Amino acid sequence: MKSRLLACFLLLAPMLATAEAPFSLPPLPYAANALEPWIDAETMNIHHGRHHKAYVDNLNAQVANFPELAGMSLEAMQAAMSKFNVAVRNNGGGHYNHDLFWQVMAPAGKGGEPSAALTAAIERRFGSLEAMKTEMNRAAAGQFGSGWAWLIVGADGELAITATANQDNPLMDVVPVRGAPVLGVDVWEHAYYLKYQNRRGAYLDAWWNVVNWAEVSRRYETATAGLKAAKAR
Ligand SMILES: [Fe+2]
Repeated sequence: MKSRLLACFLLLAPMLATAEAPFSLPPLPYAANALEPWIDAETMNIHHGRHHKAYVDNLNAQVANFPELAGMSLEAMQAAMSKFNVAVRNNGGGHYNHDLFWQVMAPAGKGGEPSAALTAAIERRFGSLEAMKTEMNRAAAGQFGSGWAWLIVGADGELAITATANQDNPLMDVVPVRGAPVLGVDVWEHAYYLKYQNRRGAYLDAWWNVVNWAEVSRRYETATAGLKAAKAR
């Protein structure tokens, strides 16, 4: 009898675990030391393994309060954020933001270049790639306290730069400037303090060396294609 119960438990445990914890920490898409010398392995290990993990764990804990979270994509959750509490906003935002952040970075020298379509959009809106970087650095450096700076596709299909506090992001229905994020940079001190201490500007300058332009271009093209499809409907 005992062994039958144990067999039942072992069979059901993974399903129960899935039901209780719908969100999981995605693995880093590269080794923790792959972004060196720009971002050190210790920062990456702590940032991913402790900070991002805490957002995931705390978001899972909120499923007891909001069972509908379990069936939602991270994107749909951000767009419906006004329905939830501050813990979902902080931790659901934190999970989405960091999931994006790992993907829009690549080992130095492997980030490629912006696609032709993204280059054209950057030049149309900012004049040049360098001018866009300068404007995004300004937004990131000017974000008081913890937060993020973003390159987004707005409702007009054009690129724009914005910054958000804490773990907010431009997909949320509770922020003033909304759009589809194609690139985001984390300016919480946990993202850079071990290597750069209070020199946020030095971290930002270094960070551009590890931007994954192939992924940013893919996100740009997905966002603009989505807007075109929505207009055609
Ligand atoms: Fe972070």
